[in-house]
Amino acid sequence: MEQNSLIKGKVHYVGVNDRNKHLFEGMWPLPYGVSYNSYLIDDDMIALVDTVDINFFEVYIHKIKKIIGDRPINYLIINHMEPDHSGSIRLIQQHYPDIIIVGNKQTFGMIEGFYGVTGQQYLVKDGDFLALGHHKLRFYLTPMVHWPETMMSFDETDGILFSGDAFGCFGTLDGGFIDSRINTDKYWDEMVRYYSNIVGKYGSPVQRALQKLGGLPINTICSTHGPIWEENIAKVVGIYDKLSKYEAEEGVVIAYGSMYGNTEQMAEAIASELSAQGIKNIVMHNVSKSNPSYILADIFKYKGLIVGSPTYSNQIYPEIESLISKILLREIKVRYLGLFGSFTWAGAAVKRMGDFATQSKFELIGDPVEMKQGMKDITYDQCANLGRAMADRLKADRE
Ligand code: FEO
Repeated sequence: MEQNSLIKGKVHYVGVNDRNKHLFEGMWPLPYGVSYNSYLIDDDMIALVDTVDINFFEVYIHKIKKIIGDRPINYLIINHMEPDHSGSIRLIQQHYPDIIIVGNKQTFGMIEGFYGVTGQQYLVKDGDFLALGHHKLRFYLTPMVHWPETMMSFDETDGILFSGDAFGCFGTLDGGFIDSRINTDKYWDEMVRYYSNIVGKYGSPVQRALQKLGGLPINTICSTHGPIWEENIAKVVGIYDKLSKYEAEEGVVIAYGSMYGNTEQMAEAIASELSAQGIKNIVMHNVSKSNPSYILADIFKYKGLIVGSPTYSNQIYPEIESLISKILLREIKVRYLGLFGSFTWAGAAVKRMGDFATQSKFELIGDPVEMKQGMKDITYDQCANLGRAMADRLKADRE
């Protein structure tokens, strides 16, 4: 039974699966659920690395006790304080009152603030060390991946990186938990969506962390979400590297709002010309139907973004306004931007979206197209011009 939890050395998987939650952080859909990963190192000194969402504590403590029985846990290492991982700290301390909590100077204030927990602390600085017996951990501070207190713990004996949210993805672990023993197909798109939704704003800190960890002989990555990576480490690090540099593929996301289908016809005309010009990757999102989680993932994936909005009460259509704020919040860089929209009696949306072009610092492509009421010959021409300009800009990058 114990062997079902063993990863390598004396490290066990004691995480849990959440197939109940609809929206992560109250916003991001979980069609494949999510795992909250925690790791138990059953060494001369026993250590627990992060905890799980408090709703799963009964399952969690059962898994722990299956491995160590009534022996106490010596250390609780907190790599990340977001409550999906820190939620069980107080209950763990109640079960193991002598446990020493390991964190950095940002960690302990949060533990007290969220949970009123103080107790014994082992405060670590960047590069500090903790020997457990067979396993020897070194701590690397990686602030803002994804909160200020985030750090990673690297086992120098077996090359295991406990990476917190980094290299994580949505999707539960259905039976197996190591990539080499499971079908990983569902995780790749869910990794892009997880990154773009949750970590997306923190490209520079992720880059700094990648540089800091670059020289380590890592052969296993134990993230807080999704599979344990052994045979896919290069692929996973490559995905995080690319996304955190905001690098994207040739392709265009057309995100539009449309109440009665007129703005949508503009989107169709633009997409048709993009295709005629040889652009294969075109993703169209009606923002009233597509959840922004998926739109953001596609924006991280593709270089081109064309946004269309009807004028609504002299403003940008609210669903587009909301999408724009999510894009700006993530400080996405280096995208090509096209704009279009429509109005019935007074145009405002296209003009107001000009502010988005300025704030995002995206390269504005072609002339924004604004249509009064319904499609006319000139609107088809203007939409085709916008589509052609975007295609030309993308194709210029091929050379
Ligand atoms: Fe999965 Fe930032 O917590």
